Amino acid sequence: MTVPSDALRDWASDAVARVAAAQIGPVAETLGRVEDAADGVVRVSGLADLRAGEMVRFADGSFGLARILDQHSVGCVLLDEGAHIDAGQVVHGTGDVLRVPVGGALLGRVVDPLGRPLDGLGPLEASDRAPIERGAPPIIDRDLVTEPLQTGILLVDAMIPLGRGQRELILGDRQTGKTAIGVDAIINQRDSDVVCIYVAIGQKSSSVRQAIEAVRAHGNPQRCIFVVAGASTSPGLQWLAPFAGMTMAEHVRDAGGHALIVLDDLTKHAATHREISLLLRQPPGREAYPGDIFHLHARLLERAAKLCAAKGGGSLTALPIAETEAGNLSAYIPTNLISITDGQVVLDTRLFHEGRRPAVDTGRSVSRVGGKTQAPALRGVAETLRLAYAQFEELEIFSRFGATTEPRTRAKLEHGRRIREVLRQGRHAPRDLGVEVALLLAVDEGLLDPVPLPRMRDFTDGLGPWLSGEAGDALARVRDSGHLTADDRASLREALARRAAGLVPAAP
Ligand SMILES: Nc1ncnc2c1ncn2[C@@H]1O[C@H](COP(=O)(O)OP(=O)(O)O)[C@@H](O)[C@H]1O
Ligand SMILES: [Mg+2]
Repeated sequence: MTVPSDALRDWASDAVARVAAAQIGPVAETLGRVEDAADGVVRVSGLADLRAGEMVRFADGSFGLARILDQHSVGCVLLDEGAHIDAGQVVHGTGDVLRVPVGGALLGRVVDPLGRPLDGLGPLEASDRAPIERGAPPIIDRDLVTEPLQTGILLVDAMIPLGRGQRELILGDRQTGKTAIGVDAIINQRDSDVVCIYVAIGQKSSSVRQAIEAVRAHGNPQRCIFVVAGASTSPGLQWLAPFAGMTMAEHVRDAGGHALIVLDDLTKHAATHREISLLLRQPPGREAYPGDIFHLHARLLERAAKLCAAKGGGSLTALPIAETEAGNLSAYIPTNLISITDGQVVLDTRLFHEGRRPAVDTGRSVSRVGGKTQAPALRGVAETLRLAYAQFEELEIFSRFGATTEPRTRAKLEHGRRIREVLRQGRHAPRDLGVEVALLLAVDEGLLDPVPLPRMRDFTDGLGPWLSGEAGDALARVRDSGHLTADDRASLREALARRAAGLVPAAP
């Protein structure tokens, strides 16, 4: 057999070049060793220069996150489910912190905290990745919270208004409508410029599916990201979820956009943190939580901010959710979160079972920064609402002891009951600013006082479309400008009075 001499020469010179280019010599690599592995955490020895937050790679190719650095060992959290790790195996440091995908490719997707798709819509084509933990913006880069964040829930927008860049805790027992408030706030952003991120931490998959389907049916899912670490996912991923969500939201904020993140819920996150810390033999503190639990949530929520114009003017609003037991707001995690956030929306089981939904306890709910941002049109008609409602609730308790005959008291009670009816609102039915202003205007002007209570629903339901036909220009102006001029007020009032009069039974 003859080999063409040209081909032989090419092959030989190529081989020589490759041998010359080969890096032959000692390669230094620090290898660690697994000391013990159980329940999603691993102790590793021998990696003396590992940094906190660094990723480590195990022999089977799975990854872990270095959490606790001790003198002789490092406590790592496993990120992959079903990883097979045994004592004695080799561990490599990766030299890099954990990063998650960020950017437009995530919009409309359901992903796990590492950005891996869970929705079966194919691979994610994210070009950028950002570290899961970054320092919060310094004070110099921040601005005052000045723009409102409309939730579409009249009770919240009127009495506990939120601003873009605010952190507002949603607090209540199980099954009181906490998730519903977060999801409705997301749905209401369907026509706004706000990108929404819903983070599910340790939630049942049925309720996660419900939340996603609600947004898909009523909101604008193409401007939402769902980060899901359900109850059955590994503790490491659940631990990671709120940080990953924050990183995705920060990307929107830093590009000058507006983001809203709902963290559902941080009580479960705290429990996961406790589990991991106890497994890593950290000393337990109050309620067996480790001492750094406050710092953990504070540094997470500090990343919500309104940036100054020089930094693009973006905002990141956070709605963390926390679950209480038997309405106990003074338990460890709720008090921590109350002191970190700029206010709380408190939900109450008793109100929920009385059928008052959303079941917000207005007396115990506050918004510490959003008040200044409320749209002037809403502020004008909502100013006296909170006080009038509080007085009514007090009066109602007293009047239970005996029928009041005093006409002024009776009128106050009747007025209060109509405020309550107007504040009642079903799920997935956010109201736009114009309708909110119109409803409060009707209450404020006393137009609803003669309407029988059972017919109040006929007034509130479908008010938006009806008003668009009757006083559409005024309604649109209020919605778009946020101001209520005297002329618009008059034309809205006239239409509302007609609608109310139609519901008053004719005098016998
Ligand atoms: N405004 C509302 N109107 C009617 N039903 C509601 C309202 N808010 C919540 N619900 C219902 O109450 C139940 C519990 O709500 P959910 O948001 O899951 O509570 P939580 O998150 O506090 O456990 C759900 O079945 C939900 O449909
Ligand atoms: Mg819930």
